[in-house]
Amino acid sequence: PIDPVRYIANRSSGKQGHAIAAAAARAGAAVTLISGPVNLPDPPGVTVVHVVTARAMLQSVERALPVDVAIFAAAVADWRVAGAAEQKIKKKAGQSTPELSLVENPDILATIAKRKIQRPKLVIGFAAETENVAANAEAKLAAKGCDWILANDVSPATGIMGGDRNTIQLVTAQDIEPWPPQSKEDVAAMLIARIAAELVP
Ligand code: C5P
Repeated sequence: PIDPVRYIANRSSGKQGHAIAAAAARAGAAVTLISGPVNLPDPPGVTVVHVVTARAMLQSVERALPVDVAIFAAAVADWRVAGAAEQKIKKKAGQSTPELSLVENPDILATIAKRKIQRPKLVIGFAAETENVAANAEAKLAAKGCDWILANDVSPATGIMGGDRNTIQLVTAQDIEPWPPQSKEDVAAMLIARIAAELVP
């Protein structure tokens, strides 16, 4: 079902991804933003594709290739229910709770980063961590095959989840660069400047 009544999702506002798309467009890039469900307006000057499932997101990402740079900020659900019901699953008195079995969603970042053809020059992922932020991000960089990871500490105390500010550590194969706490717009602008410097040194 495209618009399920009940569903499993990851918590995400989409603010950071939308801010990055807007910043890239402002810097003169041709931008396609593939967005899950968010309560945000489409950023100006950006081609926006709205999707609801991880599989549709992967398809739309592949359709957007070739690109110079691909940035994966979406908090994609790692699993979906196996055999989603066509109709609403009704709650009936006296009935036991339904058993859900899950299957893995495609990993969009890893799929694009490991492409043999049309791999973007720069593949950039995010890592939301609640502990050992830098170490987990370094492991993720290797596992996903991407070039950079923007690691953010999403422990509840940081207020980053759904909030307007973000504290990033930029993890590359060479080093870990701590960025100052700043707004998600400023993180976006800093990332776009960093990308521009990388592409045109
Ligand atoms: O493994 P984890 O979800 O923590 O990795 C985070 C990174 O992987 C993010 O860049 C996210 O956009 C990407 N990701 C993805 N597809 C998934 C799960 C995560 O592209 N199914």
